[in-house]
Amino acid sequence: MLNFEHVAVYQRDGYVLLKCVFSPREVAAMLRAVESGDWVAGNVSSPADSGGRKSSLSLWSELGDDIWTAVSTSPRIVNNIRVLPGEEISFFHGKVMHKEAHTGGKWEWHQDYGYWYDQGFVFPRLMSAFIALDPATRKNGCLQALRGSHQLGRLSHGQVGEQTGADEDRMSLIESQFERDYCEMAPGDVLFFHCNLLHASGPNDSDRHRRAFIICYNALANPQPGNPGRTGLPPCPVSEDKAILRHAPDD
Ligand code: SIN
Ligand code: MN
Repeated sequence: MLNFEHVAVYQRDGYVLLKCVFSPREVAAMLRAVESGDWVAGNVSSPADSGGRKSSLSLWSELGDDIWTAVSTSPRIVNNIRVLPGEEISFFHGKVMHKEAHTGGKWEWHQDYGYWYDQGFVFPRLMSAFIALDPATRKNGCLQALRGSHQLGRLSHGQVGEQTGADEDRMSLIESQFERDYCEMAPGDVLFFHCNLLHASGPNDSDRHRRAFIICYNALANPQPGNPGRTGLPPCPVSEDKAILRHAPDD
């Protein structure tokens, strides 16, 4: 679990890394679900980066009865997400990010709130938990973050390649103002980050996939008036700690 020091780091930097949150067996079960799952395969999109290379993601907004729901409602995620902003939260969406060996493209600099603002959220009180499923390294396109950039507030975003990206002229001024952190992670590590943190990731020129599961949450009290179907959501349920392994096939 996160402690007070982690919370202080999150407030200062806009993100905090927690190591070894999920066991090798739990990560193997998630990877099996990526490889064999109709659910993941049925939700894929692949927006090209500014150089035309593609990284794909599979995104959904419902909780069900599967391993992704068990992870999204795991006390190791939900209770930590509640602690960071200090308020009750609801599930927003989950997504599997596939950055394939040799071909995977980059994710351009953006704030997640740059993507989500137009969905009607009133406050930037959303956050994400990025779970590494493969080792994430500089070589295979790990997440990069500008430390403390969540303090900027929301920037203008536009289209960069087929993605949503922060205004490029503004980015060239901003990049020198912050330290860039290459967030290298081991499978099972979790990076918690604020929706106004500027982040990106490079292409995958290595011979190893870089897959990750990202879960996004909204503050329960953060209205989304433009989306009546998503208002009045319940607090995110919390499942039993062992629920994930119930979805792991016997070895
Ligand atoms: C990535 O998977 O590298 C990008 C994740 C994100 O933009 O949230
Ligand atoms: Mn993002």
